[in-house]
Amino acid sequence: MIRFDKVSKTFVTTAGEVHALSEIDLNIEKGCIFGVIGSSGAGKSTLVRCMNLLERPTSGDVYFDDVNLTKLPMAELRQMRRKISMIFQQFNLLEQRDALGNVCYPLEISGVPKKAAREKAVKLLEMVGLSDRIHSFPAQLSGGQKQRVAIARALATDPDVLLCDEATSALDPGTTKAILDLLKDINEKLGVTIIVITHEMKVVEQICDKVAVVHNGEVVETGEVKDIFLNPKSKVTQQLLFPHKEGYDMTENQRVFRLSFDGQSSNEPVIANLVLECEAKVNILGASTEDVGGKAYGQMLIAIPEDEMKVARVKNYLNEIGVHVIEESYK
Ligand SMILES: Nc1ncnc2c1ncn2[C@@H]1O[C@H](COP(=O)(O)OP(=O)(O)OP(=O)(O)O)[C@@H](O)[C@H]1O
Ligand SMILES: [Mg+2]
Repeated sequence: MIRFDKVSKTFVTTAGEVHALSEIDLNIEKGCIFGVIGSSGAGKSTLVRCMNLLERPTSGDVYFDDVNLTKLPMAELRQMRRKISMIFQQFNLLEQRDALGNVCYPLEISGVPKKAAREKAVKLLEMVGLSDRIHSFPAQLSGGQKQRVAIARALATDPDVLLCDEATSALDPGTTKAILDLLKDINEKLGVTIIVITHEMKVVEQICDKVAVVHNGEVVETGEVKDIFLNPKSKVTQQLLFPHKEGYDMTENQRVFRLSFDGQSSNEPVIANLVLECEAKVNILGASTEDVGGKAYGQMLIAIPEDEMKVARVKNYLNEIGVHVIEESYK
């Protein structure tokens, strides 16, 4: 449905060039919920703005249903853009219009008669669970309710794709869950392809089928969410999944290691062996592991005393049993 072929975007500023996207290849299938995750400044918003050519790539091609958008004349591009709607972190509602007026707005612009627009808007507001608030103004609505209005408005023109740029970042966890459930519902009921831009792994985990991890303007990893969760290959993904927090309380000089379990037997008493066989005083700083059918997946952070011999034994043992280990700096 949406395909990127070597898309790059460079911004020229007074301070120099910013390479926001570098040769991005991406393929988003029709009907899926696709996540784009990355930390601040990774290039997520630029990437999503290139999908409807709000931002024109410096090089590369963007295809929508096999039509190359970068080659379309403006009038046809405008037509195509109607199939792609967008919602934002800050809702971007018209303050002087009530919920109904906000949802009617894009319909009025596209020439739908007033009465028909109103009927459709009422139905959409009902679908997003706001039937009782259609005459409320944005200032009278909570963040979650405002985002519901924004979603209804985005759906008014019957789009094929809904782009959500940090749509839940201004909401509390409970409201976030409710909005994500609504998006999933819309995906299932209306078949709208949804692209979710976020910096939070739990958002991806809750609704996405596939995910692309973006870092420094590049896609560092992409695939099925469960595969990426169970077996994150890149350091960036590992940090997003299970961040290494600063400020662990170290009583003596220690070194910190990140252990990645990738389907090793969960019966192996790894920690006991590190203590007994390698004679290392292991301090578990955190863990996010799962047992799937007797196999261990996930990440664990451990600290061990700064003792060359013991560190070597620990690394040897972990290598032997196939647990991937990398050292983390924590100072
Ligand atoms: N119009 C612009 N002019 C110059 N630089 C820009 C412009 N838009 C974005 N950038 C730069 O491009 C890079 C990527 O920005 P982008 O907004 O895509 O990141 P992001 O992943 O969406 O970050 P956040 O999570 O903070 O929203 C940043 O270094 C940013 O400063
Ligand atoms: Mg952004």
